[in-house]
Amino acid sequence: MIDLSMSGRTVVVTGGSAGIGNGIARIFAAQGAAVHVTGTRARADEYDGVDGSDLDGLQYHRLDVTQADDVRDFLVGTSVDVLVNSVGTVAYGRAEYDPAIFERVVDVNLNGIMRCCVRFRPELAAAGGAIVNVASTSSFIATPGQPAYSASKGGLVTLTRSLADAWAVEGIRVNAVAPGLVATRLTRVSREREQVYEESIRSIPLRRWGTPAEMGSVALFLASPLASYITGQVVVVDGGLTLR
Ligand SMILES: NC(=O)c1ccc[n+]([C@@H]2O[C@H](COP(=O)([O-])OP(=O)(O)OC[C@H]3O[C@@H](n4cnc5c(N)ncnc54)[C@H](OP(=O)(O)O)[C@@H]3O)[C@@H](O)[C@H]2O)c1
Repeated sequence: MIDLSMSGRTVVVTGGSAGIGNGIARIFAAQGAAVHVTGTRARADEYDGVDGSDLDGLQYHRLDVTQADDVRDFLVGTSVDVLVNSVGTVAYGRAEYDPAIFERVVDVNLNGIMRCCVRFRPELAAAGGAIVNVASTSSFIATPGQPAYSASKGGLVTLTRSLADAWAVEGIRVNAVAPGLVATRLTRVSREREQVYEESIRSIPLRRWGTPAEMGSVALFLASPLASYITGQVVVVDGGLTLR
């Protein structure tokens, strides 16, 4: 019998305020988990009307993952079974060639996620828990317009593999989902340029962008007992985009 129930489990989704993280959080909540989500705004109601954000039934917290002290003090005393790291940022228009901007993007997408993994290691070890990081198809290919994004996502894959190896002995599994193109605030720029959008559709064998919920179902699988013998792996969820 296949049981994907998360009843009685506590899940933390960093970057769960909107977009892919929010879609992932909603899937875990629908399976009965108590779900904590984070974003950069002070209060949950500041996301009212934000595209791709539904915080109903989720417990919202402000957390900037670049602030080491805030991460260290986050949710102390709460047992946690699953940590999903969906925080991420990008700078368009070749801005990532500015070293300060490069540093900021890497600090969110890579260092910030490492801070969160280290923060919840004791709780996850106690629970025999799982981490799911949100990487990207940009983890594997050159992305000349966004060198920091690409480097941070490539680093996130090897970080996932390293932590999986290091923490297996503690009973923590660490895997990643690598989305292709998903309609969120992060990718609005590409969607609003009609020609770019049409070309992207043609380059995807399944002929459409993915949805946050489609990333959520894979994250749920990776965190569930169905994946109890899987660690250090990256599941590409891209409609076939990277087949060509
Ligand atoms: N959309 C795609 O096509 C795509 C493809 C591949 C991978 N991804 C990855 O999927 C993840 C989610 O992205 P998305 O597309 O869903 O974009 P999004 O809607 O902009 O979500 C990004 C999330 O990260 C949070 N965040 C940004 N900077 C942060 C910081 N310094 N500290 C804490 N949280 C921070 C945002 O908080 P606020 O809501 O407060 O801004 C938000 O919760 C990212 O890791 C992204 O790289 C996306």
